Amino acid sequence: MKNDIERVLISEDEIITAVKKIAKQIESDYEGKDVLFVGLLKGSVAFMSDLIKAYTKPCSIDFMDVSSYGSGTQSTGRVNIIKDLSQSIEGKDVVIVEDIIDSGNTLSFIKSYFNAKKAKSVRICTLLNKPSRRVVEIDVDYIGFDVPDEFVVGYGLDYNEYYRNLPYVGILKRCVYS
Ligand code: IMP
Ligand code: MG
Repeated sequence: MKNDIERVLISEDEIITAVKKIAKQIESDYEGKDVLFVGLLKGSVAFMSDLIKAYTKPCSIDFMDVSSYGSGTQSTGRVNIIKDLSQSIEGKDVVIVEDIIDSGNTLSFIKSYFNAKKAKSVRICTLLNKPSRRVVEIDVDYIGFDVPDEFVVGYGLDYNEYYRNLPYVGILKRCVYS
């Protein structure tokens, strides 16, 4: 696995520090409110797990699985719901937890879906952000790191379902996918 990584972009320590900082920020923004964290499967699992462990105020979690990518490295622009929420989010303060925002297609779809389901508020929290690749304008409330236009894996992020278990975020060698 390691041989497929061009270089480590964000180390395990840097990730943990950033995740704790985001957890503190959300705690102060949602003072006195219960937060529902909704993680997007499967890329957000590592981030979600560390984020909720760093979060010390009342909260609950749920997951959704949507697809827009298939097995390639490019967004198709179409979003399908594979697994829906397991509860009503009406009247709830929702924070969407995502691994990476690329084109923005996934998050813009989810945000309007949650607004249609009458969430009280919807904010977006992403570990990684690739601003140079944005196709759809979206407001991102919490960002761990801006990353360059490279295909990255690890800490939940995959290529063809592999590399999610790397504890850091690394740039995948181009020869692996081209
Ligand atoms: P978007 O809809 O184009 O913003 O794509 C978001 C989804 O694409 C993420 O949840 C990831 O699953 C996937 N994705 C985008 N860029 C990368 C990357 O560099 N590595 C791994 N997955 C990526
Ligand atoms: Mg993915």
